[in-house]
Amino acid sequence: MRVLLYTLTILGSLTRIQAHVTFTNLKCGSKDRKFATFEKCYIKAVNRTHKYIDIHVNLLKVPVNNITIMAKFMRHDHGYKPFFIDITFDACRFLRNQQQPILKSFYEIYKNSSNINHTCPYNHDIIVDHFWTGNIETALMKYIPIINGDYAVFTEWSAYNIVRAFINIYIRISDKMK
Ligand SMILES: *[C@@H]1O[C@H](CO)[C@@H](O)[C@H](O)[C@H]1NC(C)=O
Ligand SMILES: *[C@@H]1O[C@H](CO)[C@@H](O)[C@H](O)[C@H]1NC(C)=O
Ligand SMILES: *[C@@H]1O[C@H](CO)[C@@H](O)[C@H](O)[C@H]1NC(C)=O
Ligand SMILES: *[C@@H]1O[C@H](CO)[C@@H](O)[C@H](O)[C@H]1NC(C)=O
Repeated sequence: MRVLLYTLTILGSLTRIQAHVTFTNLKCGSKDRKFATFEKCYIKAVNRTHKYIDIHVNLLKVPVNNITIMAKFMRHDHGYKPFFIDITFDACRFLRNQQQPILKSFYEIYKNSSNINHTCPYNHDIIVDHFWTGNIETALMKYIPIINGDYAVFTEWSAYNIVRAFINIYIRISDKMK
């Protein structure tokens, strides 16, 4: 796993593709309505090239001190199919000690737009506010040499080993618009 991640890091830094990333869809859902419900989950377009995501999750059983996130990277080819290793990680451990380079690079771009940006426990609602595509372009391309197409990241959020919610983010990667 570690060797693979470093290999991708090196490949990525050699590739440096100029790409345009746009959100095409966003799906959120609770798998345990006594634990978490979604108050907001949408994409908004500001203009032709810029879109952002807003998410608001009501956490109903706080404090939460045990979070596991599973991410599946999907590519559209007659339906969405996995094209990359699945990543499962202990979010509280990651937040305490930010060492994994891919996670860290995503965290760096996202932490200003969300209040999931401190160490556990979480005793408040979770908010992602105006998370822009522009930021993803740079982070994604640095690590994963990717061809144009439709992709999705399916994430499952567990607390205390029980799946509580999912968030699926759909994106399209195309050549940079001039
Ligand atoms: C779209 O909006 C963003 C953010 O306000 C701005 O930076 C960008 O220049 C705009 N692009 C166009 C084509 O208007
Ligand atoms: C996040 O905010 C900090 C402090 O306001 C700033 O220094 C940093 O450049 C921002 N990062 C991104 C990716 O916007
Ligand atoms: C965490 O997010 C909040 C807003 O959601 C922001 O005010 C704060 O500066 C962020 N902290 C860090 C360390 O990025
Ligand atoms: C999270 O909770 C589960 C179920 O109670 C437990 O098995 C697991 O060890 C906990 N993880 C951490 C990092 O405490």
